[in-house]
Amino acid sequence: MFEKVQVAPADPILGLSELFKADPNPEKINLSVGVYQDNNGKTPILETVKEAEKIIYGSEGSKGYLPMTGDPVYCATTQELLFGEGHDIITSKRAATAQCPGGTGALRVAGDYLHLLHPDAKIWLSDPTWANHNTIFKAAGLQCEKYAYRNPKTNGLDFDAMLASIKQIPAGDVILLHGCCHNPTGIDPTPEQWAKIGAVLAERGILPLVDFAYQGLADGIEEDRQGLLELVKHVKQLLICSSYSKNFGLYCERTGALTVVADNPEQAATVMSQVKLRIRYIYSNPPAHGGKIVATILSNKELKARWIEEVAGIRNRINEMRHLFVKTLKEKGVDQDFSSIIEQRGMFSFSGLSKEQVLRLRDEYSIYIVDSGRINVAGMTTSNMDKLCEAIKSVL
Ligand code: LMR
Repeated sequence: MFEKVQVAPADPILGLSELFKADPNPEKINLSVGVYQDNNGKTPILETVKEAEKIIYGSEGSKGYLPMTGDPVYCATTQELLFGEGHDIITSKRAATAQCPGGTGALRVAGDYLHLLHPDAKIWLSDPTWANHNTIFKAAGLQCEKYAYRNPKTNGLDFDAMLASIKQIPAGDVILLHGCCHNPTGIDPTPEQWAKIGAVLAERGILPLVDFAYQGLADGIEEDRQGLLELVKHVKQLLICSSYSKNFGLYCERTGALTVVADNPEQAATVMSQVKLRIRYIYSNPPAHGGKIVATILSNKELKARWIEEVAGIRNRINEMRHLFVKTLKEKGVDQDFSSIIEQRGMFSFSGLSKEQVLRLRDEYSIYIVDSGRINVAGMTTSNMDKLCEAIKSVL
């Protein structure tokens, strides 16, 4: 049966990690996969994570299965991180959360739930969006459509076009919104724009699915939830997929969550009962370790405060690299205007480099960038910046 099977195409993002690993050039630079690197080019384990692990190893008494929806403490702390302690959605118990294997796991469970319970619903993705969104939702059986997002002329948000496309989405469809740090552009709506989006979605009866994978990496833990908070002022029902890969550095622990916000507690519990069924047949119940780390940190005041500081360190370094990148290109005499990169947030920006230029950077300089021209700013360091900008100048 295997004779006719053909080699699958490489993944547009993770495939590059494999090529990067195999590249023997000691000066290679990885700006592809969204993984944070410190100024020494290392992906560190956060100190608060190390400390939480010590606590866990000292107290863990069993490796029994978690419930299908995971650890209740983790789910509660996830809701507090999303909405803020004491938010009406939490106190009125309108939300139900399931711990999931990473943001990808949460998206897939959401996709399966949507396809089976709302078979006519299409899902609308921003143009552009994270390459895996399309494949996850198609695998779940959903039809994917696009809504306008980025203005290529300004490398900023084309809000009028975005709103105009949202107004064309039929009632009963689903729209995927990036909670903050839009992947791949780094361009986010302002809180005022979020409010307008929320009003249109509520008026038209469109269900938002918020992919929230970078809380804390744009402007701060609280600041980054403002968009979501604006949205829930208008929209009563939504799905949120959280990921702790980036803000806790728990990439390999596959730590995520799916939160359902409903009209009332009974409705939230009913939807979650359907979500549980999908979980059971996809992976049965989630892995525990990453969730224990997050729950330990978020339910300990002192550890939480230190974690917020660590996230600020990550965010500040990325923002410094944004400035240094634009400044270095200018100093090298590059005419093309890269200044919008300073305004963008999170790990990613669209460089505007063409596929040909990206391939030349890879072949001639061992600089790895996703074919679309998306760059992971968190892969830049003070020591690789000169070489990077010199190489970009030479391919422009
Ligand atoms: C990315 O966009 O590079 C990250 O979210 C990692 C991934 O799984 O693609």
